Amino acid sequence: MTRDALSTTSDGRKIKDAVQVVYGSKFRPTEEDNMKSRSAGGGVSINRNGNNRCRHRRQHALFTLIALAVGVAGAGIAGETKVDVDENSFKCILEMTKVDNVLGDLQSTIAVAQAGRGEYPAGSVVQLIPTEVMIKHEKGYSPVTRDWEFFSVDISKDGSKIHSRGAAEVNNRLGLNCFACHVKAKHEFDFICEQTNGCDPIPVTRPMFTALQRSDPRCKDAPELTDEDKQALSDLAEVVKTLTQKQ
Ligand code: HEC
Repeated sequence: MTRDALSTTSDGRKIKDAVQVVYGSKFRPTEEDNMKSRSAGGGVSINRNGNNRCRHRRQHALFTLIALAVGVAGAGIAGETKVDVDENSFKCILEMTKVDNVLGDLQSTIAVAQAGRGEYPAGSVVQLIPTEVMIKHEKGYSPVTRDWEFFSVDISKDGSKIHSRGAAEVNNRLGLNCFACHVKAKHEFDFICEQTNGCDPIPVTRPMFTALQRSDPRCKDAPELTDEDKQALSDLAEVVKTLTQKQ
Protein backbone atom coordinates (compact mmCIF):
# COMPACT_ATOMS: atom_id res chain seq x y z
CA MET A 1 0.00 0.00 0.00
CA THR A 2 1.59 3.24 -1.08
CA ARG A 3 1.21 6.54 0.67
CA ASP A 4 -0.85 7.75 -2.25
CA ALA A 5 -3.30 4.93 -1.98
CA LEU A 6 -3.52 5.43 1.75
CA SER A 7 -4.38 9.05 1.35
CA THR A 8 -7.41 8.11 -0.69
CA THR A 9 -8.95 6.58 2.40
CA SER A 10 -9.69 10.01 3.78
CA ASP A 11 -11.60 10.89 0.63
CA GLY A 12 -15.21 9.80 0.89
CA ARG A 13 -15.78 9.61 -2.84
CA LYS A 14 -12.81 7.42 -3.49
CA ILE A 15 -14.00 5.03 -0.82
CA LYS A 16 -17.37 4.90 -2.49
CA ASP A 17 -15.64 4.16 -5.76
CA ALA A 18 -13.74 1.36 -4.09
CA VAL A 19 -16.97 -0.14 -2.85
CA GLN A 20 -18.43 0.09 -6.32
CA VAL A 21 -15.43 -1.59 -7.83
CA VAL A 22 -15.85 -4.42 -5.41
CA TYR A 23 -19.62 -4.62 -5.70
CA GLY A 24 -19.44 -4.49 -9.44
CA SER A 25 -21.37 -1.48 -10.59
CA LYS A 26 -18.07 -0.23 -11.98
CA PHE A 27 -16.37 -3.50 -12.68
CA ARG A 28 -18.14 -6.09 -14.68
CA PRO A 29 -15.94 -8.65 -16.36
CA THR A 30 -16.54 -9.43 -19.98
CA GLU A 31 -16.63 -12.99 -21.16
CA GLU A 32 -13.06 -12.47 -22.29
CA ASP A 33 -12.02 -11.37 -18.81
CA ASN A 34 -13.63 -14.48 -17.44
CA MET A 35 -11.66 -16.70 -19.76
CA LYS A 36 -8.43 -14.92 -18.94
CA SER A 37 -8.90 -15.09 -15.24
CA ARG A 38 -9.72 -18.74 -15.36
CA SER A 39 -6.73 -19.60 -17.44
CA ALA A 40 -4.57 -17.63 -15.04
CA GLY A 41 -5.78 -19.92 -12.30
CA GLY A 42 -7.57 -17.06 -10.69
CA GLY A 43 -4.49 -15.41 -9.28
CA VAL A 44 -5.86 -15.81 -5.82
CA SER A 45 -2.55 -16.53 -4.23
CA ILE A 46 -1.83 -12.89 -3.49
CA ASN A 47 -2.37 -12.46 0.20
CA ARG A 48 -0.69 -9.31 1.31
CA ASN A 49 -2.66 -9.21 4.48
CA GLY A 50 -2.60 -12.90 4.99
CA ASN A 51 -1.16 -12.60 8.45
CA ASN A 52 -4.44 -11.32 9.68
CA ARG A 53 -6.15 -14.47 8.63
CA CYS A 54 -6.55 -17.63 10.62
CA ARG A 55 -6.24 -15.96 13.99
CA HIS A 56 -9.80 -14.88 14.25
CA ARG A 57 -11.63 -18.10 14.85
CA ARG A 58 -14.07 -16.18 16.93
CA GLN A 59 -15.13 -14.32 13.82
CA HIS A 60 -16.55 -17.55 12.50
CA ALA A 61 -19.45 -16.77 14.76
CA LEU A 62 -20.18 -13.94 12.37
CA PHE A 63 -20.73 -16.40 9.62
CA THR A 64 -22.75 -18.59 11.93
CA LEU A 65 -25.05 -15.72 12.67
CA ILE A 66 -25.69 -14.95 9.06
CA ALA A 67 -26.50 -18.46 8.09
CA LEU A 68 -30.23 -18.57 8.01
CA ALA A 69 -33.02 -20.48 6.49
CA VAL A 70 -35.31 -18.53 4.23
CA GLY A 71 -37.39 -18.93 1.18
CA VAL A 72 -38.79 -22.31 1.86
CA ALA A 73 -41.99 -22.30 -0.09
CA GLY A 74 -44.47 -24.83 -1.28
CA ALA A 75 -47.44 -26.56 0.14
CA GLY A 76 -45.84 -29.74 1.34
CA ILE A 77 -48.44 -31.79 3.08
CA ALA A 78 -46.04 -34.57 3.74
CA GLY A 79 -43.81 -34.43 0.69
CA GLU A 80 -40.79 -32.70 -0.67
CA THR A 81 -40.60 -28.97 0.12
CA LYS A 82 -39.37 -26.96 -2.81
CA VAL A 83 -36.90 -24.18 -2.17
CA ASP A 84 -37.94 -21.09 -4.08
CA VAL A 85 -35.57 -18.18 -4.40
CA ASP A 86 -35.98 -14.82 -6.08
CA GLU A 87 -34.47 -11.39 -5.59
CA ASN A 88 -36.70 -10.79 -2.57
CA SER A 89 -34.91 -13.59 -0.77
CA PHE A 90 -31.90 -11.31 -0.33
CA LYS A 91 -31.66 -8.31 1.94
CA CYS A 92 -29.29 -6.08 3.87
CA ILE A 93 -26.71 -8.47 5.26
CA LEU A 94 -26.61 -6.63 8.57
CA GLU A 95 -30.32 -7.25 9.11
CA MET A 96 -29.73 -10.90 8.46
CA THR A 97 -27.66 -11.13 11.59
CA LYS A 98 -30.89 -10.78 13.55
CA VAL A 99 -32.28 -14.22 13.48
CA ASP A 100 -35.93 -13.40 13.73
CA ASN A 101 -38.99 -13.70 11.48
CA VAL A 102 -37.48 -16.34 9.25
CA LEU A 103 -39.39 -19.10 7.55
CA GLY A 104 -38.36 -22.68 7.48
CA ASP A 105 -35.99 -24.89 9.33
CA LEU A 106 -33.84 -22.20 10.91
CA GLN A 107 -32.97 -24.25 13.96
CA SER A 108 -31.42 -27.04 11.89
CA THR A 109 -29.39 -24.55 9.85
CA ILE A 110 -28.07 -22.87 12.95
CA ALA A 111 -27.29 -26.23 14.50
CA VAL A 112 -25.04 -27.17 11.57
CA ALA A 113 -23.43 -23.72 11.48
CA GLN A 114 -22.69 -23.87 15.18
CA ALA A 115 -21.38 -27.39 15.00
CA GLY A 116 -19.11 -26.19 12.20
CA ARG A 117 -19.68 -29.38 10.23
CA GLY A 118 -22.41 -31.56 8.86
CA GLU A 119 -24.96 -31.37 6.08
CA TYR A 120 -27.02 -28.22 5.82
CA PRO A 121 -30.79 -28.72 5.59
CA ALA A 122 -32.76 -27.56 2.53
CA GLY A 123 -33.52 -23.86 2.62
CA SER A 124 -30.26 -22.86 4.30
CA VAL A 125 -28.81 -19.56 3.13
CA VAL A 126 -25.15 -18.88 3.75
CA GLN A 127 -23.32 -15.68 2.99
CA LEU A 128 -20.24 -13.81 3.99
CA ILE A 129 -19.69 -11.28 1.22
CA PRO A 130 -23.04 -9.60 0.55
CA THR A 131 -22.85 -10.31 -3.19
CA GLU A 132 -22.09 -14.03 -2.97
CA VAL A 133 -24.66 -16.37 -1.56
CA MET A 134 -25.12 -20.13 -1.33
CA ILE A 135 -28.56 -21.63 -0.88
CA LYS A 136 -29.29 -25.27 -0.26
CA HIS A 137 -32.05 -26.81 -2.32
CA GLU A 138 -34.07 -29.89 -1.77
CA LYS A 139 -32.42 -33.25 -2.46
CA GLY A 140 -31.88 -33.95 -6.14
CA TYR A 141 -31.48 -30.33 -7.27
CA SER A 142 -27.81 -30.82 -8.12
CA PRO A 143 -25.98 -33.86 -6.76
CA VAL A 144 -22.59 -32.55 -7.88
CA THR A 145 -22.91 -29.43 -5.71
CA ARG A 146 -24.66 -31.39 -2.95
CA ASP A 147 -27.78 -29.40 -3.80
CA TRP A 148 -26.20 -26.00 -3.22
CA GLU A 149 -27.09 -23.22 -5.63
CA PHE A 150 -24.56 -20.40 -6.02
CA PHE A 151 -25.68 -16.80 -6.49
CA SER A 152 -23.82 -13.74 -7.62
CA VAL A 153 -26.04 -10.87 -6.57
CA ASP A 154 -25.95 -7.21 -7.59
CA ILE A 155 -26.85 -4.99 -4.69
CA SER A 156 -27.74 -1.32 -4.50
CA LYS A 157 -29.79 0.89 -2.26
CA ASP A 158 -32.82 -0.24 -4.26
CA GLY A 159 -32.30 -3.86 -3.31
CA SER A 160 -30.91 -7.02 -4.84
CA LYS A 161 -30.80 -8.32 -8.37
CA ILE A 162 -29.63 -11.80 -9.21
CA HIS A 163 -26.69 -11.44 -11.57
CA SER A 164 -26.16 -15.14 -12.06
CA ARG A 165 -27.29 -18.27 -10.33
CA GLY A 166 -27.03 -22.00 -10.72
CA ALA A 167 -24.97 -24.99 -9.75
CA ALA A 168 -21.43 -25.78 -10.91
CA GLU A 169 -21.46 -23.25 -13.77
CA VAL A 170 -21.70 -20.02 -11.77
CA ASN A 171 -18.75 -17.62 -11.59
CA ASN A 172 -18.23 -14.72 -9.24
CA ARG A 173 -17.73 -11.22 -10.59
CA LEU A 174 -14.01 -11.75 -10.98
CA GLY A 175 -14.80 -14.59 -13.33
CA LEU A 176 -13.82 -17.28 -10.84
CA ASN A 177 -15.93 -20.38 -10.50
CA CYS A 178 -17.70 -20.74 -7.16
CA PHE A 179 -17.93 -24.51 -7.32
CA ALA A 180 -14.27 -25.00 -8.26
CA CYS A 181 -13.18 -23.37 -5.01
CA HIS A 182 -15.91 -24.60 -2.70
CA VAL A 183 -15.72 -28.22 -3.80
CA LYS A 184 -12.31 -28.36 -2.12
CA ALA A 185 -13.88 -28.14 1.32
CA LYS A 186 -13.60 -31.52 3.02
CA HIS A 187 -16.71 -33.64 2.78
CA GLU A 188 -17.84 -33.11 6.35
CA PHE A 189 -17.99 -29.35 5.81
CA ASP A 190 -20.56 -29.52 3.02
CA PHE A 191 -18.93 -26.95 0.69
CA ILE A 192 -18.33 -24.45 3.47
CA CYS A 193 -14.77 -23.15 3.09
CA GLU A 194 -14.19 -20.92 6.09
CA GLN A 195 -10.46 -20.67 6.67
CA THR A 196 -9.50 -24.18 7.58
CA ASN A 197 -11.91 -26.50 5.78
CA GLY A 198 -9.62 -27.41 2.89
CA CYS A 199 -10.26 -24.66 0.32
CA ASP A 200 -7.45 -22.57 -1.10
CA PRO A 201 -7.24 -19.27 0.76
CA ILE A 202 -8.54 -16.08 -0.82
CA PRO A 203 -6.87 -12.68 -0.41
CA VAL A 204 -9.73 -11.24 1.61
CA THR A 205 -9.08 -10.50 5.27
CA ARG A 206 -11.50 -10.36 8.20
CA PRO A 207 -11.48 -6.54 8.25
CA MET A 208 -12.38 -6.58 4.55
CA PHE A 209 -15.36 -8.89 5.10
CA THR A 210 -16.53 -6.72 7.97
CA ALA A 211 -16.18 -3.53 5.96
CA LEU A 212 -18.01 -5.05 3.00
CA GLN A 213 -20.87 -6.05 5.24
CA ARG A 214 -21.00 -2.68 6.95
CA SER A 215 -21.12 -0.90 3.61
CA ASP A 216 -23.93 -3.03 2.15
CA PRO A 217 -25.91 -0.35 0.27
CA ARG A 218 -29.20 -2.15 0.95
CA CYS A 219 -28.99 -1.34 4.66
CA LYS A 220 -31.20 1.57 5.64
CA ASP A 221 -29.39 2.34 8.87
CA ALA A 222 -25.93 1.55 7.70
CA PRO A 223 -23.32 2.32 10.33
CA GLU A 224 -20.69 4.98 9.71
CA LEU A 225 -17.60 3.33 8.29
CA THR A 226 -14.70 3.41 10.69
CA ASP A 227 -11.19 4.29 9.59
CA GLU A 228 -10.39 0.60 9.75
CA ASP A 229 -13.30 -0.16 7.42
CA LYS A 230 -12.16 2.49 4.97
CA GLN A 231 -8.63 1.20 5.04
CA ALA A 232 -9.85 -2.36 4.47
CA LEU A 233 -12.01 -1.32 1.51
CA SER A 234 -9.17 0.62 0.02
CA ASP A 235 -6.86 -2.38 0.45
CA LEU A 236 -9.50 -4.62 -1.09
CA ALA A 237 -9.91 -2.35 -4.09
CA GLU A 238 -6.14 -2.57 -4.52
CA VAL A 239 -6.28 -6.38 -4.35
CA VAL A 240 -9.10 -6.51 -6.89
CA LYS A 241 -7.18 -4.17 -9.17
CA THR A 242 -4.07 -6.30 -8.93
CA LEU A 243 -6.00 -9.48 -9.62
CA THR A 244 -7.71 -8.04 -12.65
CA GLN A 245 -4.59 -6.37 -14.05
CA LYS A 246 -2.55 -9.50 -13.62
CA GLN A 247 -4.71 -11.45 -16.00
C1 HEC B 1 -11.19 -18.39 -5.44
C2 HEC B 1 -11.97 -19.31 -4.68
C3 HEC B 1 -13.42 -18.95 -4.40
C4 HEC B 1 -14.37 -18.57 -5.30
C5 HEC B 1 -14.24 -18.38 -6.80
C6 HEC B 1 -15.58 -18.38 -4.55
N1 HEC B 1 -15.37 -18.63 -3.23
FE1 HEC B 1 -16.71 -18.44 -1.76
N2 HEC B 1 -15.25 -18.67 -0.39
C7 HEC B 1 -13.95 -19.06 -0.68
C8 HEC B 1 -13.21 -19.14 0.58
C9 HEC B 1 -11.76 -19.56 0.74
C10 HEC B 1 -14.10 -18.78 1.58
C11 HEC B 1 -13.81 -18.68 3.09
C12 HEC B 1 -13.36 -17.27 3.36
C13 HEC B 1 -12.94 -17.02 4.77
O1 HEC B 1 -13.71 -17.38 5.68
O2 HEC B 1 -11.87 -16.46 4.96
C14 HEC B 1 -15.39 -18.51 0.95
C15 HEC B 1 -16.54 -18.17 1.63
C16 HEC B 1 -17.78 -18.15 1.05
C17 HEC B 1 -19.02 -18.14 1.78
C18 HEC B 1 -19.18 -18.21 3.29
C19 HEC B 1 -19.22 -19.67 3.74
C20 HEC B 1 -17.91 -20.41 3.54
O3 HEC B 1 -17.83 -21.23 2.60
O4 HEC B 1 -16.96 -20.16 4.30
C21 HEC B 1 -20.01 -18.16 0.85
C22 HEC B 1 -21.49 -18.18 1.10
C23 HEC B 1 -19.40 -18.15 -0.45
N3 HEC B 1 -18.04 -18.15 -0.29
C24 HEC B 1 -20.10 -18.15 -1.63
C25 HEC B 1 -19.49 -18.08 -2.87
C26 HEC B 1 -20.20 -17.90 -4.12
C27 HEC B 1 -21.71 -17.84 -4.26
C28 HEC B 1 -19.27 -17.82 -5.10
C29 HEC B 1 -19.48 -17.56 -6.57
C30 HEC B 1 -20.40 -16.47 -6.94
C31 HEC B 1 -17.97 -17.99 -4.47
N4 HEC B 1 -18.15 -18.14 -3.12
C32 HEC B 1 -16.78 -18.00 -5.14
C33 HEC B 1 -13.44 -19.32 -1.92
C34 HEC B 1 -14.06 -18.98 -3.09
